[in-house]
Amino acid sequence: MWIRPMLVSDMEAIKQLEKDIFGDAWSENNIKDSIESKFDYCVVIEEDYRVLAYIIFRVNMDEAELFRIATDKNSRNVGFAHELMDFMISNLRDMKVKKVFLEVRCQNKDAIRLYEDYGFKKLGVRKEYYNNPTDDALLMEGYIKC
Ligand SMILES: CC(C)(COP(=O)(O)OP(=O)(O)OC[C@H]1O[C@@H](n2cnc3c(N)ncnc32)[C@H](O)[C@@H]1OP(=O)(O)O)[C@@H](O)C(=O)NCCC(=O)NCCS
Repeated sequence: MWIRPMLVSDMEAIKQLEKDIFGDAWSENNIKDSIESKFDYCVVIEEDYRVLAYIIFRVNMDEAELFRIATDKNSRNVGFAHELMDFMISNLRDMKVKKVFLEVRCQNKDAIRLYEDYGFKKLGVRKEYYNNPTDDALLMEGYIKC
């Protein structure tokens, strides 16, 4: 298992994972824009030449936003998302980023538990923010300790 930057050549794998995992999957253009953006950090976990998990976050001055974190359905509960969160936090610390924001579906208990594990706190709720299926968005904020 190794962590490496997401490449344009990973596009098909990421598109398939997005389709399998999210009701509101990112399009090829969304993924490509992030891979090519100088503000976005896109990282994958690869094992036996397969992408099993990935994270996408954006850095803007001393703040960051976590856009996506996902693990293949057959590879969950072995610590991949924790590896990716550790990677993000350690890189943000090096970049002197102080805060991370994110939005998550209120029904997404697995993701909320993951974020709370890293000390993220609830900031507020956006009613019926998500489609397919309809759900409220929970806004969360995490602090990067020096
Ligand atoms: C949320 C999600 C990313 C978690 O991914 P994951 O790779 O299964 O997460 P982890 O394996 O790191 O942690 C899950 C559990 O395994 C446990 N675990 C097992 N082995 C572990 C290890 N070696 N290291 C750390 N945790 C480990 C964790 O403690 C955790 O337990 P908990 O849920 O009781 O707290 C995954 O469920 C997912 O892809 N969901 C769909 C996409 C999504 O909703 N993303 C968030 C919004 S963008």
